[in-house]
Amino acid sequence: MKKFKDIFVKYKTPFYWYDMQLLDETLKLIKKESEKYGFYIHYAVKANSNLPVLKRIKKIGFGTDCVSGNEILRSLEAGFLSSDIVFAGVGKSDEEIIIGLENDIFCFNVESVSEIEVINELAKKLNKTAKIALRLNPNVDAITHKYITTGLEENKFGININELDNIIKILPNLNNIELTGIHFHIGSQITDLNVYKNLCFRINEIQEMFIARKIKLKHINVGGGFGINYDAPDIDKIADFKSYFKIFSNLLKLQAEQKLHFELGRSIIGQSGNLITKVLYIKKGVKTKFAIVDAGITELIRPALYSAKHKIENISSDLLDETYDVVGPICESTDFFGKNIILPKTKRHDLIAIRSAGAYGEVMASQYNLREIVKAYYSN
Ligand code: LLP
Repeated sequence: MKKFKDIFVKYKTPFYWYDMQLLDETLKLIKKESEKYGFYIHYAVKANSNLPVLKRIKKIGFGTDCVSGNEILRSLEAGFLSSDIVFAGVGKSDEEIIIGLENDIFCFNVESVSEIEVINELAKKLNKTAKIALRLNPNVDAITHKYITTGLEENKFGININELDNIIKILPNLNNIELTGIHFHIGSQITDLNVYKNLCFRINEIQEMFIARKIKLKHINVGGGFGINYDAPDIDKIADFKSYFKIFSNLLKLQAEQKLHFELGRSIIGQSGNLITKVLYIKKGVKTKFAIVDAGITELIRPALYSAKHKIENISSDLLDETYDVVGPICESTDFFGKNIILPKTKRHDLIAIRSAGAYGEVMASQYNLREIVKAYYSN
């Protein structure tokens, strides 16, 4: 991050900084590794919905995965084709479903019987046929933080397999619904590739159920969740997409003409974003020293919410190392970025970079304490 220091001093802190070159390199690698197998990539807009980011992703040729009507509209504004947009979410409102229908999106990933019925009704009114994929809960453990696990029976997401026969029974009566695929997403920040092997085996079993019922599925969507290395963002700048896609190619049994889709968020934009903040005060505690910075949970809530650890760097100092608790200015005890962090001796007005914050950083920002909404700047 030090190479950007001269640029950073020009901006008022805190702000997000996006390394667009790294984003481009990441996108190129994903394209190369996924194209080998003819896989389709939808970028999960929820990870970062900034227009400059979306436009780069559009340029490489991916689609989007949206979880709100506004994400669909933002995707269209960035230039994505509606035929490349999927719409997921456990609680889609009528207004949001109508946005999807009016724009003839590629597919609704549906999560309950009642949702399917509502989509059918709304599609009928608009004289449309909605393409849907059933989001099935495969009961596969993602081995990640419990707040970002979604594929277990106890999670609110997806339809349980034991409901399948009931859905298949009612589908022929829903004239404005076309079942085109099945969808899975078992969690986020998954770093153990065995998890994806297990998902493939489970999907193969589930496919057999459709084959036995003579139902043809045009596509399978395996969601996202591929993790990044928060400990070493400079060593592991880009996740190991080669191994990731290879697992699906080797283990997932696709039927003739069936297409495989992915919804990747964090692994696309995570390492390209950094939160840049300034030290306001150094304060001596009883056992530790606090570096109080001008960013807090209002700019990056992940450490407070998921005990996430983001690498913290002082980019202004080359002095000898000392230990600090790096904390924000918000009136909450959870407002810290790291405890017992070793940094070069730090003083007031040093710039601090909080790394790997491109995904679920800026998008989850708030204005708690009436703070200004955080700004973003981009490299070329
Ligand atoms: N598809 C679905 C249906 C999802 O729910 C998600 C993320 C994705 C795709 C993209 O997952 P990714 O490739 O980014 O892991 N705020 C949390 C992460 C929440 C993820 C929600 N769903 C965090 O900061 O770790």
